[in-house]
Amino acid sequence: MKLFHALAVLIIAWCAVIGRSQAVTLEVRAGDSTCIKAELSASFSIPYNTSSSTRTAQFSLPDSATADTGSSSCGTDSSSPWLVAVFGPGHALGLSFSTNGSLYNVANLTLQYNLSDTSVFPGADSSDVVTVVSSSVGIWATVNTTYRCESPTTFRVGGSTVTFSGARLEAYMPQNELSPTESVCMADQASTTAPPTTASTTTTPAPAPTPPGTPERGTYSVNNRNGTVCLLARMGLQLNVSYFSLSQNKTVQELVNLSPNETSVSGSCEASSASLVLTQEQITTLNLTFTLNSTSNKYRLSAITLLANWSDMRGPFQASNTSLDYLRSTLGRSYMCNAEQTLAVVPTFSLNTFRVQVQPFEVTTNQFATGNKALCYSPCSYPPPPPPQFLFFFF
Ligand SMILES: *[C@@H]1O[C@H](CO)[C@@H](O)[C@H](O)[C@H]1NC(C)=O
Ligand SMILES: *[C@@H]1O[C@H](CO)[C@@H](O)[C@H](O)[C@H]1NC(C)=O
Ligand SMILES: *[C@@H]1O[C@H](CO)[C@@H](O)[C@H](O)[C@H]1NC(C)=O
Ligand SMILES: *[C@@H]1O[C@H](CO)[C@@H](O)[C@H](O)[C@H]1NC(C)=O
Ligand SMILES: *[C@@H]1O[C@H](CO)[C@@H](O)[C@H](O)[C@H]1NC(C)=O
Ligand SMILES: *[C@@H]1O[C@H](CO)[C@@H](O)[C@H](O)[C@H]1NC(C)=O
Ligand SMILES: *[C@@H]1O[C@H](CO)[C@@H](O)[C@H](O)[C@H]1NC(C)=O
Ligand SMILES: *[C@@H]1O[C@H](CO)[C@@H](O)[C@H](O)[C@H]1NC(C)=O
Ligand SMILES: *[C@@H]1O[C@H](CO)[C@@H](O)[C@H](O)[C@H]1NC(C)=O
Ligand SMILES: *[C@@H]1O[C@H](CO)[C@@H](O)[C@H](O)[C@H]1NC(C)=O
Ligand SMILES: *[C@@H]1O[C@H](CO)[C@@H](O)[C@H](O)[C@H]1NC(C)=O
Ligand SMILES: *[C@@H]1O[C@H](CO)[C@@H](O)[C@H](O)[C@H]1NC(C)=O
Repeated sequence: MKLFHALAVLIIAWCAVIGRSQAVTLEVRAGDSTCIKAELSASFSIPYNTSSSTRTAQFSLPDSATADTGSSSCGTDSSSPWLVAVFGPGHALGLSFSTNGSLYNVANLTLQYNLSDTSVFPGADSSDVVTVVSSSVGIWATVNTTYRCESPTTFRVGGSTVTFSGARLEAYMPQNELSPTESVCMADQASTTAPPTTASTTTTPAPAPTPPGTPERGTYSVNNRNGTVCLLARMGLQLNVSYFSLSQNKTVQELVNLSPNETSVSGSCEASSASLVLTQEQITTLNLTFTLNSTSNKYRLSAITLLANWSDMRGPFQASNTSLDYLRSTLGRSYMCNAEQTLAVVPTFSLNTFRVQVQPFEVTTNQFATGNKALCYSPCSYPPPPPPQFLFFFF
């Protein structure tokens, strides 16, 4: 009984902490002028090891977080502006910015956590301070405007995730207050124009989704600026997305196949990165980015971004993970795998692939080079998604 009671109190206390993540205001100054200001609600999900298992710590950026004056900076000619929010014993969330004069973006999102903090990481088998970084998280805004995003957006940083739910921020500020002109994130653009929720009482519920079966295999190619094919892919793709359904008034898990005949293809090829961007009916955009390591001559699928704006969603769904390591192969060869594979991206989105052959670099004469079948993985060889949240309490 006592244990039950204690557990219940803990869970309630924890829900209060996680559920009500408050916006924290952070500011970086040089002399009298403010160069970066952010009003953020953020929560973290961090897997860690104990002596016997792997647990996941879940917590929010606390009100007490402050911009660290030592490590934050407005930047110089040779260094970028940095906002470093510190909290607790040695935890930190860092955002570094870059600009090209007309747009600015979050260049790196950094998370530092101190495994010695037993209140957050009970039973951790290490006392290290861990730092993980993710680059190009996709936070962009026009210079002299405030970036605004109310929709929860999850970023994977190392093995951990950071979710911003409600962010207003500006870097390279011309004055000391956030600009009244806003660059609204894609995910918010539809939620503000979403039909009023009262409509849901009159609409008939959507029929229960039927499993879509195996997706059709599509052939996709991306051309260089000079018109030659630089990336080739042939595969079936299925999205596995969990989102809040307006018609069913609950979170649902939906499988959606990409239909090659309804999908438009774009993308880009650079020396060490190549992106394949598939857009289905203007409402689903999937961006697969491959990176080449020119030292080892190996390439991998390193980033997956999904933007889905489906009619039954409360607002567009956005998910991005830029530190992936899938579909590894060697320059000059294609990657091939006939078995179905599950590529975990974020906890609410994974991508199932079927009969894949891709070659993101060094395509010659519009054809695949010999496949590298030896590098085909079974679904189980990828790390499973983080365990349920309440594992946190089993100490
Ligand atoms: C936990 O331990 C396993 C096995 O030693 C290791 O592969 C994994 O990376 C560790 N995970 C974390 C989060 O440290
Ligand atoms: C990590 O946490 C421990 C325990 O709270 C503390 O003694 C130590 O100073 C912290 N490390 C850093 C770098 O802040
Ligand atoms: C900045 O980058 C954006 C997007 O890549 C581009 O459209 C714009 O022209 C660039 N501006 C300058 C001044 O380079
Ligand atoms: C982002 O992080 C990478 C790797 O940690 C580093 O090389 C790069 O300089 C950082 N960029 C910025 C703008 O901070
Ligand atoms: C931003 O505002 C500052 C000060 O008002 C101005 O000097 C600068 O040209 C503006 N930059 C852009 C890209 O509009
Ligand atoms: C999402 O869909 C709605 C309704 O179809 C549309 O008004 C809105 O512009 C779309 N948003 C984005 C970001 O595409
Ligand atoms: C097209 O551009 C690529 C590099 O961007 C180059 O390797 C290739 O030779 C060019 N092809 C033609 C026909 O110019
Ligand atoms: C979809 O994702 C959920 C949650 O990760 C998982 O339980 C389910 O098995 C997945 N379904 C398919 C068909 O991949
Ligand atoms: C949605 O579900 C919640 C609780 O599950 C309930 O309070 C609410 O009335 C429902 N809304 C509609 C429109 O059915
Ligand atoms: C695309 O193909 C599917 C089945 O393969 C078919 O049901 C659908 O009508 C096609 N759509 C278009 C726009 O041709
Ligand atoms: C696709 O993702 C890559 C890496 O995140 C990014 O550089 C590129 O601009 C994206 N392309 C589009 C069209 O969004
Ligand atoms: C590229 O590969 C080399 C050799 O395997 C490795 O040491 C290096 O860390 C890799 N670089 C990147 C950016 O992954």
